[in-house]
Amino acid sequence: MLIGIPKEIHPGEKRVATTPETAEKLRALGYEVALESGAGVAANFSDDTYRETGVSIVSSAKELWEKADIIMKVRAPEANTELSVHETDLLDSNKTLISFVAAGINPELLETLSKTGATALAMDSIPRISRAQKMDALSSMANIAGYRAVVEAAQHFGRFFTGQITAAGKVPPAKVLVIGGGVAGLAAIGAAKSMGAIVRAFDTRPEVKEQVESMDAEFLMLEFEEDGSGEGGYAKTMSEEFIKKEMELFAKQAMEVDIVITTALIPGKPAPELWTEAMVETMRDGSVIVDLAAEMGGNCKLTEANKIVIKHGVTLIGYTDLPSRLAAQSSQLYATNLLHLLTDMTPEKDGQLVVDMEDEVIRGATVVNKGEITWPPPAPRLYAVPEKKEETAQTIQVTEAAKDSPLKQLLFFGVAGLLLLALGSVAPPDFMSHFTVFVLSCFIGYMVIWNVSPSLHTPLMSVTNAISSIIIIGALLQISSPDNLNKYLAAFAILITSVNIVGGFAVTQRMLEMFRK
Ligand code: NAI
Repeated sequence: MLIGIPKEIHPGEKRVATTPETAEKLRALGYEVALESGAGVAANFSDDTYRETGVSIVSSAKELWEKADIIMKVRAPEANTELSVHETDLLDSNKTLISFVAAGINPELLETLSKTGATALAMDSIPRISRAQKMDALSSMANIAGYRAVVEAAQHFGRFFTGQITAAGKVPPAKVLVIGGGVAGLAAIGAAKSMGAIVRAFDTRPEVKEQVESMDAEFLMLEFEEDGSGEGGYAKTMSEEFIKKEMELFAKQAMEVDIVITTALIPGKPAPELWTEAMVETMRDGSVIVDLAAEMGGNCKLTEANKIVIKHGVTLIGYTDLPSRLAAQSSQLYATNLLHLLTDMTPEKDGQLVVDMEDEVIRGATVVNKGEITWPPPAPRLYAVPEKKEETAQTIQVTEAAKDSPLKQLLFFGVAGLLLLALGSVAPPDFMSHFTVFVLSCFIGYMVIWNVSPSLHTPLMSVTNAISSIIIIGALLQISSPDNLNKYLAAFAILITSVNIVGGFAVTQRMLEMFRK
């Protein structure tokens, strides 16, 4: 089958659905790949780099749509003013379209697609389940949007992000508040942290707290209990009282922070208004707000979609095309998402696309199947975020059992003490002193390892390995021995154990760094 990659026609869109690198991999799956001339130029991929990987370059968009069996795009099909034709009119019952569709807010597009008899897969409808993470284009794009939001903020913020002490004076670090810790929010936290800012974040879903703290940012706590987790790992609409308390928290933050990045959204609903005009007024002049939810009405009502406006001395950025502003990166990630989808849909690697409606991921993404509208799909069976389990009778039993544990422990230590006394009355004194050291080290080892979380066992092992080089003391004592053989052996032992000590601590340090990120 022939895969066609047309040039994106949406004004300002710079992304392209396939890069030279992924085109090569698509060809390895048995497909032929054709690209409309210049489709990758805005994302820094020239026609020649595609040609080198065996992609054929087609000069006219119409010819490409006619020849291709599978059309892969970024944006949903729209009217092509140059050709005076709507892109859907270029489809027929033998063709498959794969692109973003936004089926939930585009019912007319679904109708038009169904009339063509074609099959359409929406990259934004890939279910958010673990197996489909590699195809999750919404997450890849949100990740880029979060990063780019910080870059945009830095561009419009007149100061450093990081604090500095210079001869010319002290510069305090910028304070960044991220509202909503989804994919975009977490990417924004990571980018702002790496630039040296003080980062705070808030989200309604409790599991986000740990993720935020693992990135060394501060999670703002609200003294109000309500779980914001909805279906499929997404958020749900919060109660009025919750939003009121949340806004009280933000009102205090508005007086302190320099940059606000808002990403709060409930799927299929207008964005909740969380940052009021009064809060904008209390922010210092020169502060910046990047409203990622601008397309859905914005988390701040003063935001204007696709514009940068200055109100009450604060710059409000409402770009809705942040991934396109990092076109090479987003094209690469989107193309990889598509490649993973096509790999799953080409089981025989023979260049033949199989739309298997029994496959949960393919079913979720297919919005029109041979002219039949198949959206919305049934709810996914497995969520990426584990569902909350009800507290079962079993857990209660465990708690009951745990209640007698102090008594059991007392009994255990009593019996062990009696056994030790019995042993002490018959064993030689030398044995008893060694035995006591042995028991004590077992106890300390047990306490140390059991109190360390399992994820830290590997660094713990490497540091223990380094500590085991305490035998270096033996070698140091022998180095001044009059016997030459002893001396050389001791020197060699010192060399080896030093490598062990330095290496062990260096490896531990590197592993702990990984946990800090
Ligand atoms: P997501 O659904 O994973 O994250 C949204 C987060 O907001 C969730 O963690 C949710 O719990 C949180 N949230 C919802 N209500 C809240 C409230 N009242 N207070 C605090 N947090 C709340 O979405 P994702 O993928 O991270 O995207 C975030 C936003 O960025 C969305 O609005 C999305 O449309 C937008 N976006 C914008 C782009 C642009 O170019 N401007 C590009 C990509 C995404």
